[in-house]
Amino acid sequence: MSADHVAPPVLDRLERPVEDLRVSLTDRCNLRCTYCMPREMFGPDHAFLPRHDLLSFEELSRVLRAFVDLGVSKLRLTGGEPLLRTDLPDLIAMIAPLPGIEDIALTTNGILLPRLAEPLVEAGLKRVTISLDALDDETFRAVADTPLSVDAVLAGVQAAIDAGLSPVKVNAVLQRGVNDHQLEDLAGWARDTGVTLRFIEFMDVGTTNGWQRERVVPADEGQARIHARWPIEPVAPERQGEVAERFQYLDGAGTVGIVASVTRPFCRTCVRARLSAVGELYTCLFASKGHDLRALVRGGATDTELRDAIASVWRARTDRASELRSEGGLTGERVEMSYIGG
Ligand code: GTP
Ligand code: 5AD
Ligand code: SF4
Ligand code: SF4
Repeated sequence: MSADHVAPPVLDRLERPVEDLRVSLTDRCNLRCTYCMPREMFGPDHAFLPRHDLLSFEELSRVLRAFVDLGVSKLRLTGGEPLLRTDLPDLIAMIAPLPGIEDIALTTNGILLPRLAEPLVEAGLKRVTISLDALDDETFRAVADTPLSVDAVLAGVQAAIDAGLSPVKVNAVLQRGVNDHQLEDLAGWARDTGVTLRFIEFMDVGTTNGWQRERVVPADEGQARIHARWPIEPVAPERQGEVAERFQYLDGAGTVGIVASVTRPFCRTCVRARLSAVGELYTCLFASKGHDLRALVRGGATDTELRDAIASVWRARTDRASELRSEGGLTGERVEMSYIGG
């Protein structure tokens, strides 16, 4: 570990440290979820990032080391769909041993997990989060805009469990009138399968998903519906700044989470930085522009210069977009979530 690792944490203008880095490994995906990559906008004419623009795994490891020196201990690999980088186990093997990294998670739609779960575990991955918004084929196909069946994702969930990934979490974005009728089915399935389910409020990330407030299923409502079927009570967060509020089933069937980014924003404790696949640092999910770290890496910057550049971006950070939304003031351009990661 570098001597600087014990330096005081770098704080932003709202006194928040940087602890969690979410890394997008590609802007491509093999699904077209309507709330994330609507096909009208992400069709054959969409210009995805060219391969040579993506950070190589060596470049990425170097950037990660700089973040670790500034206080990051938690990594989430995301996309688009990160398993489309089929050599992902090589990256995991490179970064899992880095001193200072305490947790590496992966967000995936699960479709490629039957092939990749075992190699990922062998490389050092411990846990995974799989997106699944419905258990019936009709709703799943409508939301994910795919001819595939739910079984393709369920096979991924099973492959994750069989490979020993733990916990296996499942994220479901709820949209009223689209898949909210699936809430109880999803909760019951998760209880039976032993995965940790989290319901997520539909957000106005990006500018292409046609977000309407009426489509958001408020956390209070989701919580009440679960409680009506299987009584739950809130449990304390495992860590400060946790995104999902957790509830435990009184019958002992584990926990369920709700991410209330719209109705109960959590910007005050936001310790998350995001890195696009081309190496831009974004300080908020709702940011309109990033800071180019790849130019530094490819331009011969030293480790200290790289670290100082990240620190100065973080020190200037004032983001609190979800709180601004609540105050009625979230406007303007913003980057797509598939570009900077979920
Ligand atoms: P764990 O470490 O497993 O608890 O993961 P997590 O809950 O920190 O991350 P996950 O990627 O599972 O987050 C779930 C969902 O919460 C994401 O897909 C987003 O929809 C939302 N989310 C995550 N981070 C943020 C954030 O910083 N701001 C907002 N507004 N939403 C976020
Ligand atoms: N609202 C909420 N969550 C979203 N995600 C993507 N788009 C949205 C949105 N509009 C999240 C989901 C998905 C992950 C990859 O990103 O949690 O599981
Ligand atoms: Fe792909 Fe995930 Fe976005 Fe769906 S939510 S389009 S699976 S990146
Ligand atoms: Fe953090 Fe921005 Fe999300 Fe608020 S909206 S929690 S500042 S990423």
